[in-house]
Amino acid sequence: MKILGIETSCDETAASVVEDGRVLVSNVVHSQIDIHAVYGGVVPEVAARSHIDMINPVIDKALSEAQLTWDDIDAIAVTYAPGLVGSLLIGTLAARTLAIIKNKPLYPIHHVEAHVYANFLNDNAPEFPMLALIVSGGHSQLVLFRDHGDYELLGQTCDDAVGEAFDKVAKILGLPYPGGPSISSAALNGDPNKYKLPKAKVQGAYDFSFSGLKTATLRAVQHETGVDHTFPSFELASLLNDQQRNDFAASFQKTAVETLVDKTEKAFITYNPKSVVIAGGVAANQELRRVLSERLPIQIDYAPMNLCTDNAAMVATLGFYYAQNKQPTDPYDLEVLPSLSMTKSKWSNA
Ligand code: KG4
Ligand code: ZN
Repeated sequence: MKILGIETSCDETAASVVEDGRVLVSNVVHSQIDIHAVYGGVVPEVAARSHIDMINPVIDKALSEAQLTWDDIDAIAVTYAPGLVGSLLIGTLAARTLAIIKNKPLYPIHHVEAHVYANFLNDNAPEFPMLALIVSGGHSQLVLFRDHGDYELLGQTCDDAVGEAFDKVAKILGLPYPGGPSISSAALNGDPNKYKLPKAKVQGAYDFSFSGLKTATLRAVQHETGVDHTFPSFELASLLNDQQRNDFAASFQKTAVETLVDKTEKAFITYNPKSVVIAGGVAANQELRRVLSERLPIQIDYAPMNLCTDNAAMVATLGFYYAQNKQPTDPYDLEVLPSLSMTKSKWSNA
């Protein structure tokens, strides 16, 4: 079964063909990073306009790279939630139109759940029960999957997502957007023990908090550069030298990674899963992978970096399991749900 996946929830226009939820046939991602970098973050209106320009060429390219025609495609899977409303609308409108004119079944996909499915494109599919640490620009959560479509949210961030904290701290340090990759490369030349930053204490056993870490980093930078807390954060970067910048990047990354690994280890001990996966843009972080593998007594097969950040292959992969277990949606009725979170799910075969 060949599924065409379409993803436009934020700032990547992506289309991909995946066969039987396992074989990556084509994977096209048009990133808007260059367009948004000048603003230091994603501008929703600009993102939606770029999706309009790119959606048809990206879908055409996914089919031509796969050397397939529409006759070969069995179903379409599209991200309908969560994300930026203007961005989601472009992908879903394209998918709905194609489902109607090409007469294909259509499956709406939850973006955060799809991130987890990048791990099913590995040579060995993860076994259930599977503990998933989902860490992206919009989400930080621990989810226990008992089977496909049968999951429970164990914990999540009470405030900022960890990717958002990477992006905000990068801005304070004067490192380029997106902050995750630029912090992790600056950290390679920094001392992770130079600045002691606090790990937040939160009530829920598997919940996270990152907004305090971001503020603590800001205060430590102000202290180091000899200014008080009223000094504007956007002018701080010019007071830092390269070594201080690298040391702050390494110290922040160390604390953020330990926070994630502490809770994942705790959930691992309680639920004793057969596999552990990480998903979302921050899953590309090498330090997170290193520390997690060091602390958990289980082998973790990490997804390739390019399938951790936003892509449509993960959408097509999850689409395969939907197609096995669920009825397709009516393309005339599909609405976007920009703030739908992943809490609990149990598929029925109806
Ligand atoms: O999953 P994603 O591509 O988009 C969302 O669904 O949010 O995640 C983007 C986030 C950004 O915050 C980015 O800074 C972060 O993932 N990120 C990283 C790395 N690569 C991307 N964070 C830490 N280390 C990385 N290597
Ligand atoms: Zn994402």
